[in-house]
Amino acid sequence: MSEKKIAIVPGDGIGVDVTREAVKVMKCLEKVSGVAFRLQHYDYSADRYLKTGVTMPPGALDEFRSFDAIFMGAFGDPRVPDMRHAAEILLGTRFGLDLYVNHRPIKLLHEPLCPLKGRTRKEIDFVVFRENTEGLYVGMGGNFKKGSADEIATQIDVNTRKGVERIIRHAFEYAAARGKSRVCMSDKANVLTYGHDLWQRVFRLVAAEYPSITATHLYVDALTMQMVKDPSQFDVIVTCNMFGDIVTDLGAQIQGGLGLAASGNINPAGVSMFEPVHGSAPKYAGKDIADPIGAILTVQLMMEHLGVPGAAELIESAIVDCMERGRTTRDLGGSLGTAAAGDAVCDAMRRLSG
Ligand code: IPM
Ligand code: MN
Repeated sequence: MSEKKIAIVPGDGIGVDVTREAVKVMKCLEKVSGVAFRLQHYDYSADRYLKTGVTMPPGALDEFRSFDAIFMGAFGDPRVPDMRHAAEILLGTRFGLDLYVNHRPIKLLHEPLCPLKGRTRKEIDFVVFRENTEGLYVGMGGNFKKGSADEIATQIDVNTRKGVERIIRHAFEYAAARGKSRVCMSDKANVLTYGHDLWQRVFRLVAAEYPSITATHLYVDALTMQMVKDPSQFDVIVTCNMFGDIVTDLGAQIQGGLGLAASGNINPAGVSMFEPVHGSAPKYAGKDIADPIGAILTVQLMMEHLGVPGAAELIESAIVDCMERGRTTRDLGGSLGTAAAGDAVCDAMRRLSG
């Protein structure tokens, strides 16, 4: 039996509630498929930061490197208004472990959940690869004459040849491996004439290596429009960190809401980290209201990444089964609480595997 060692960081707010259900699904998988998990919990969170002043202790990232994968819940707490702990834990892990691929699937699992009129499941099924280690997220820039009427604030958009090439290449490799025929790169090269011109040039070079894949381009404003107008035109979208952040919230909504959105922060040559896209929603924390499906679909993505045979398919079929039977939380039209919705997925997994 293969054993996978997973670090679990529930974080803040509903991150704790949904991570409990994600863990429940992992335990259920142990029973129905031949995998075993060794889970180690870490309490990196606003609570711990407020008590100790430390977000992540020195050596935490090195410790993470010894796992097969890391699962994180959500971060954000009104008692830490500058979100310092969230930035250090989440962005610190993305940068520190060089998780340069942010893999965000946009897949409609149940047609009534789609806000776009008449769209079928097969019309909304694509992935966004968001560059995850550069761009506007690096925190370079500064203030001059801060607080005065003459203040200047700069925020630098960092695009390196290496960083741009590796995410674009990943998108083409993924498309080639999955038999997807279209890769669309999105930027704002008509205005960002240095950084995004680099994206244009690198995209053309890499695309030429994959002649069987149709390479297209959309400026990001047009991309948002096309994602609503006709999402069936996309298989794989690749874009920069900031635009990827924005368009994946739009994508989450067309698949049924932020409560369903999963993400993988991938280093193809090292350990990767998985987290639902949603935030910590402090006002719903601990109330058995939050939808655990985003976290459970994140487990699904993690299983796919870890290559656990049959696990990803089983989790997805179980979720679809629950949606079709209305065994969901209220945001999806059901009447279950967080824990019961997690139980419903486990019941379906047992039934479908038996
Ligand atoms: C996301 C989130 C984060 C981001 C925040 C919490 C820093 O919005 O994962 O999409 O902007 O990347
Ligand atoms: Mn976001």
